[in-house]
Amino acid sequence: MVNFMGSIEKRNRTVAVNEFPTALYINGRWIESSEGKKFPVFNPATEAVVAEVSDADIVDAQCAVDAAARALPAWAGKSPRQRSEILYKSFEIVSRQKEHLARLMTLENGKALKDSNAEVTYAAEFLRWYAEECVRISGEVMQAPASGAQILVQYRPAGVAVLVTPWNFPAAMGTRKIAPALAAGCSVVVKPASETPLTMLALAECFAEAGVPPGVVNIVPSSKSASVVSHMLSDSRVRVVSFTGSTEVGRNLLRESAHNVINPAMELGGNAPFIVLEDADIDAAVEGAVVAKMRNSGETCTAVNRIYVHDKRHDVFAERLTSRMSALKVGNGLDNGVDVGPLVNAGTRNKVAGFVEDAVKRGARVLTGGQMPTGIGFFYPPTVIVGVPEDAKCVREEIFGPVAAIQRFADDEEVIFKANNTEYGLVAYIYSENLKRALGLANKLEFGMVGINRGLVSDPAAPFGGMKSSGIGREGGREGLFEFLEPQYISTNW
Ligand code: SIN
Repeated sequence: MVNFMGSIEKRNRTVAVNEFPTALYINGRWIESSEGKKFPVFNPATEAVVAEVSDADIVDAQCAVDAAARALPAWAGKSPRQRSEILYKSFEIVSRQKEHLARLMTLENGKALKDSNAEVTYAAEFLRWYAEECVRISGEVMQAPASGAQILVQYRPAGVAVLVTPWNFPAAMGTRKIAPALAAGCSVVVKPASETPLTMLALAECFAEAGVPPGVVNIVPSSKSASVVSHMLSDSRVRVVSFTGSTEVGRNLLRESAHNVINPAMELGGNAPFIVLEDADIDAAVEGAVVAKMRNSGETCTAVNRIYVHDKRHDVFAERLTSRMSALKVGNGLDNGVDVGPLVNAGTRNKVAGFVEDAVKRGARVLTGGQMPTGIGFFYPPTVIVGVPEDAKCVREEIFGPVAAIQRFADDEEVIFKANNTEYGLVAYIYSENLKRALGLANKLEFGMVGINRGLVSDPAAPFGGMKSSGIGREGGREGLFEFLEPQYISTNW
């Protein structure tokens, strides 16, 4: 358990807190919201309230931006090595706190403990990766071809960054933004999802212990996300907005960041195709599909949404996938041996159930699952449906749940057309024993990431991001750092 024995400054009163923090974290201090309001965080498995969290409003958001702006020059002025060492220490502390952070994440998000443990490892790795990248930010010197002047390019911290993180990866989507921002020399204000603020607040403790100076990382949970973020984007000192979430909200943030011309980094929706060619290793493809579909119970923007299997292999693939999916254990994510926890809330669960009903009405057949359980908790069973028509809602929209929707295809041309026939372009998966053919296919897919014979592409060392309506910019890898850096070109003669 995090040794959280800090204190909350309650405007004029200080109260002891323990176990896990629930207050706003601004300028290195735990404070209650200006109006003293709180909002509940629920356990999706029991529907019980886990905690009441301080509810930031625009006054608090302004304090957080002020704190970040004040902290910026000193943080940007630290040497890369100093920033790197603090990031590395954060990596060590988060790794050490893995068990506590994972339990907290399962409590507020519902995901199975093994998914939470995997996420904490993933989250910590962003800190390590950017601790390493931090000392390798290099510029360029060249001679202008015509004038002969010297062109110098240097990369400078972009400024204060507002980071808006989602509920499906409460830790990793935070560190995937915080780590490169801090490595670049930026200070940040994080607005975690109101469903899952506790993990991010616990991470703030880790950053403080690692020596991140007050004001460099500020956390403002809020139930009034839209107005709080909008207010922060109206402050011209904010130079980057990094968001992970739906395309609809991303479009709003793009509109709002236009006024001050704020650099946007947007990780938005997906509609991933999973293509099984006739020469695929079917057992490997089934295992890959289980990973690509069921990581986080399907609540992942990289989750496979449309499974296209070649006519000749369709039946055997569907049968084996059904057998794997029906063997997964559903239950409270904290219980031993559970593979699939509840979905995050009733709305999400009902939407998933609606997708299955719609597909069945249009002629799809359920091979396993498909029945919404009664009782407490937002559970939905692992489900496989076949004969899903192209116009089914689950083919057009992101399912975000444990439903595998299978379709047939006859040849490469047909599957390429169908795979690309979406406004999204985040990730695609291909299974084939012929690497040359798979690479050729990848080249024709309009997706920012492609997994070949792998059901998982996410990697802190790789540029994560989408084409088309799936986003702008990349997170992770070397590329992730450039979202938080401004190139400055100096023209000179010597
Ligand atoms: C997401 O679902 O937003 C991110 C998934 C990942 O990083 O793998």
